[in-house]
Formats: sequence, structure tokens, C-alpha cells
Amino acid sequence: MVPPISRRAVETPVSPHRVLVDLALELKAKGKDVISFHAGQPGFPPAREAIEELVKLLREQTFATCCYAPSKGYPRLRELIAEDIKKYGGLDLHPLKQIVVTVGGAEALNIAVLTALNPGEKLLLFSPTYSVYWGLGTIHGVQVEVCKQEIDTEFQPDPECIKEKLSDEKVRAVLFASPGNPTSRVIKEDIAKLIVDLAYEKKKWVFYDQAYRHIYYEGSHLWIQRYTGAEEVVVTIDSFSKDIAIPGFRLGYMFGPEEFIKHAGKLKGYLTISAPNISQKIAMIYLEKGIKEKYLREVIPKYRERRDAAYTALRKYLPEANVIKPRAGMYLFPDISAYLEKTGLTDVEFARRIAEEKYVVMLPGSAFHPGSNRYLRVTFVTEPPERIEEGLKRVSEVIEELEKK
Ligand SMILES: Cc1ncc(COP(=O)(O)O)c(C=O)c1O
Repeated sequence: MVPPISRRAVETPVSPHRVLVDLALELKAKGKDVISFHAGQPGFPPAREAIEELVKLLREQTFATCCYAPSKGYPRLRELIAEDIKKYGGLDLHPLKQIVVTVGGAEALNIAVLTALNPGEKLLLFSPTYSVYWGLGTIHGVQVEVCKQEIDTEFQPDPECIKEKLSDEKVRAVLFASPGNPTSRVIKEDIAKLIVDLAYEKKKWVFYDQAYRHIYYEGSHLWIQRYTGAEEVVVTIDSFSKDIAIPGFRLGYMFGPEEFIKHAGKLKGYLTISAPNISQKIAMIYLEKGIKEKYLREVIPKYRERRDAAYTALRKYLPEANVIKPRAGMYLFPDISAYLEKTGLTDVEFARRIAEEKYVVMLPGSAFHPGSNRYLRVTFVTEPPERIEEGLKRVSEVIEELEKK
């Protein structure tokens, strides 16, 4: 028998997300024609131009590209990030005192929680939300409080719930993403303002995750960092995984008040020493040479086309589902309770069934909170329109077959 395992490890559940990702890999390995609606991946490879430059750099400056990078990130990269944030958000950041480069947005999330909360204190989340957020509670010994978001209110969190939870002395921070994952909802301005106002008044942290800030089809990103008081309480989590499409390079960053970033930077040095050197180099290439803008100009119209195709096909093949056409993000999040009732399956069983029988992989809503078990998450950016249509047609065939039984 092995020695004891920690409570935090045992109590952290296996994410249903990972289970379906593994199933998709298994089906692909068996040569099945898998239609992928499950990944949080960009739909296209990174810009060729950036890759060529990076390869050249690796050849010509091998040592400098393979050594450890500075713990808080290359100063030049932090300058470029500050310029980018100024350009899009109009914010003035001190590159060296207010930005830390991290191993993806995921590490920034963990560092944010470690910097702001003591074990036993509380973190407020809006459910359903990104599966990684749920692990933050068990991993860091923090209690999670929840305000629900439902389709009837366009997945906006309830202001009354926010007021109540932020009045709790033990709640030290609220974490949310806009555009969201899995719902793609963009937070309403009055709700965002309420959050910042309350946080400022009650001295709580706001962790604002803007990993999808460039993935908009209509409208543009809400920069809550500009609200009065935000400069003292808002810590932003950002990522290079979605906009410049390098999720495998594991690169993100966080920015916020100097005092917060000073402590976050210390923790970063212990946790993972530095973000990957070559990842920082490719991000610098993208930002320095304007490749990011060029890439987004090419990709966003294609994502929009895929969003439209997914929404139309979903309405056609699953007419009893309740679905919102998102104006941002990478996901549809339909309420499929009509079909779950008809088939007698849970969301997890339904997702498994369509994967095993028709090789269409989507994530069950409960991967994002147990209370969201009447939804499915459908990533629409990863497959071309004809495959999206084919995938949703296959889902309707599974339902038809189950209804006959
Ligand atoms: C809302 C949200 N935040 C953060 C991340 C993490 O991104 P990264 O790849 O930078 O760790 C994701 C990834 O899917 C996400 O959906």
C-alpha cells in the first residue's frame, strides 16, 4: 500500500472535461471520423510568418532561446503587452511593476488566488464557469461561493446574489471571465460596474479573466479596468492561447495594482521559475511585427462563419434546444433538457453516447458545474461549416434512434 495522499489531491475530482478529451483521442486512434466540438482550442494554426521567425531565432540564437527566461517575463515582452493593453483598452500600465508573464492564463489564475486568499477564505464564482476555476478551491484550500447564471437571463449573474455574497466578510475575491466559458456571455456593463463598485467599497479583489477579449463577432470587449476604483481592486488574467493561437506554448499574463503584482511575482518565481522562453519569443514576434492584428483579421471572419453555421445547424437539427447566438467567444451552450427528458439520459451519458455511437464529441454542461446538467458545450471554431452541419445531424440521429427504443 502506498503512503497517504493529500486531502487536496483526493478531494479534487477528475474533470469530466478530461474524460471526454481522452475518449476523443481514443476514438481518433482507432481511426474513427471524430467531429470535435469539445476542445477549447483555436480552429487554425498560428501564423506561418511567426513560426518561420521563431524557427530562425532557434537556429541562430539557440542558447538565448533555450535558457531560462526572467522570472516575471522578458522586459521587452512586458513592454509590448503594456502597449497592446494601451492600444485596445486605453490603460496605462507600468510594464515592469504591473505585469507578470505566466505559464498560460491557468497559472495566472492560480497565482491570483494564492496572492489574495488565505486557506479557509472564500472565492466567489459565477456558475457555470471554466472547469479550471473549480479546481482552484480544492487545490488552494479556499471555499467557493456561487452565483448562478441561467439561459433565461442570458447567463448574466444575478445582481442581488452578487450583493449578498460580496457582503460576506470571508469572501476575499470574485473571479469571472468575459466573454465567458462555457457560455460565451459578455458581462453586462451595469453588472460589471456593480461588481467593481462593491469590490472597491468592501475591499475585495476582482479577478477579471479576458482570455477571449479579441474573439468578438459583434461589439467589442468591455474594459472594466477603466471604471472608477478599478485600478486598486481589479487584477486581469489574460492569455495568448486564443488570440494568437498558441495554447500549446502555455503563455499568459496578469496585470494589476503594483502591490499585488509585487507579491504575485515572488510566488511566480517559486512556482514555475519562468514562463517558457520560446513562448515568450514567439509572442514578442507576433506583437512587434503586427502579426497579431493580421492574424485576427483573417481568423475572426472564419470563426464568425462557423458560429453562424453552428447556430443554424443547431436550430435545424435540435429544434427543441434553447440556444443563444453568442456575439463573442468560441462556444454555443444550448439547454437540451427537452432531449434529456425524451431519452432518459443525463448530460454526461448523452455526451458519451453521441461520442461512442457517432464520434461527435461535445462536453456535458456539468463539466462546468453540477447544476448545469441540462446544457451541452459545443465549440464551434474547431470544425469547418460542412463538418459542423454533419456533426449536429449525427446528434439528431442518435436522438431519433433512442426515441424509437
Ligand atoms: C476563461 C478561460 N480562462 C483561462 C483559460 C486558460 O488559458 P491558458 O491556455 O492561457 O491557460 C481558458 C482556456 O480555455 C479559459 O477558457
